[in-house]
Amino acid sequence: MKLAIFLPLAALLATAKSADVTYHKDVLPVLQKNCQICHRPGEAGPMSFTSYKETRPWAKSIRDAVASKKMPPWYADPAHGKFANDRRLDPKEIETLSQWAATGAKEGNPKDAPKPVAFASGWTIGKPDLILEMPLEFDIPAKGTLEYQHFVIPTNFKEDVWVTAVEVRPSNRAVTHHGVAFVRPPGSKWLQDAKPGVAYVPKGRWQNNLGINEEIFETYVPGAVPHHLQPGQAKLIPAGSDIVLQMHYTANGTAGKDKSKIGFVFAKEPPVERVYSMNITQSKFIIPPGASAHPVDAKFTFQQEVKLLALSPHMHLRGKSMEYTAVYPTGESEVLLNVPNYDFSWQLFYYVDKPKVLPKGTSINVHATFDNSANNKNNPDATKEVKWGDQSWEEMMVGFVDVVIPAKTDPMEIYRPSRPAKPAAE
Ligand code: HEC
Repeated sequence: MKLAIFLPLAALLATAKSADVTYHKDVLPVLQKNCQICHRPGEAGPMSFTSYKETRPWAKSIRDAVASKKMPPWYADPAHGKFANDRRLDPKEIETLSQWAATGAKEGNPKDAPKPVAFASGWTIGKPDLILEMPLEFDIPAKGTLEYQHFVIPTNFKEDVWVTAVEVRPSNRAVTHHGVAFVRPPGSKWLQDAKPGVAYVPKGRWQNNLGINEEIFETYVPGAVPHHLQPGQAKLIPAGSDIVLQMHYTANGTAGKDKSKIGFVFAKEPPVERVYSMNITQSKFIIPPGASAHPVDAKFTFQQEVKLLALSPHMHLRGKSMEYTAVYPTGESEVLLNVPNYDFSWQLFYYVDKPKVLPKGTSINVHATFDNSANNKNNPDATKEVKWGDQSWEEMMVGFVDVVIPAKTDPMEIYRPSRPAKPAAE
């Protein structure tokens, strides 16, 4: 009896509520939490969602973008893995935004609005102990496509340096699609023709292979806050290393300049654990013209136990999907991350919600597919056979993996089978 009365009442309340969806009361809190990090002045989003006036004309596009899951950008298949930086909207938030568009995108009462969010305008890692900078500004034209630009910046470190936080800060976010800081240790052959500080686009196909000694250190993507390491964790910059900034600039109709900085916070005490970035790569492939889902696989077996921290698929314009599967020494397997609809525009890192132990002998299989057909709207040329290369019309198949190891462990131990212990000296 009670239930019979309760149900229609609830239904009534629900319709009354949805008819009343307003910008200030319902929509702004969702935009603040999920969208303004990119959709505010000076950030990567092409328009700002910080006032009713700015947001109102976009009501229908907002509805479509969140219904299609195009926004916010997040590409992990929810069936596998849990991620600390998961950005997806919950169904209620999607409902609020679509109801708002469906009911005339009303403003409502400004008194209902939450307080504006105070976004950090300086370094989000706190005051860096060291700031390195591109020595010259780079000019980004108003139109056209730019290849990735590389800037070699020497650290001049005389000894090894442990850092607890790194942040890449473009000076011009409107034209910076993303930027990656790599550590290139002394003796590395990677980009060896590049002159320090001068924008460099690699030429040869094989010149650009990252070895196991070059480490991806920090990535700037719009809206991402640098990852905070746990207490006791740090990353290592070997003495004499260079920082290589790899910048992806995109023309946005207005010519601009950028002069990116990288900030480092040094470890105040010796770390217990080291965060180490590695990659599981397959560079030997030939993608035939027209292929719609050409498979490419890579596999890596850990020779030491590690804890998994983050995964980040990297392919170019023909990249279609990437899936990471762990195969444990027991024979059991588990999909760690599946990105069924990869988008080159978004170089996302997926941080696991809890670091996952991968015992010695665990393999990670990385399975990618490439769409070299005319149906792929990003495909620069469906009639070409495609191989590994740094240029965006060539391809890459790299599964980035960040792991945690004891600070004293040489990361090379992860790669090589341990040798039998030497007999004690007599
Ligand atoms: C990580 C940064 C980022 C976040 C977070 C983000 N956006 Fe965007 N958004 C962009 C960028 C960059 C573009 C333009 C490029 C594109 O369309 O992919 C864009 C484009 C859009 C568009 C235009 C889509 C189209 O098809 O032209 C809409 C609408 C939009 N965003 C709404 C939202 C909403 C609503 C949210 C929050 C729920 C959100 N965005 C979160 C960066 C972001």
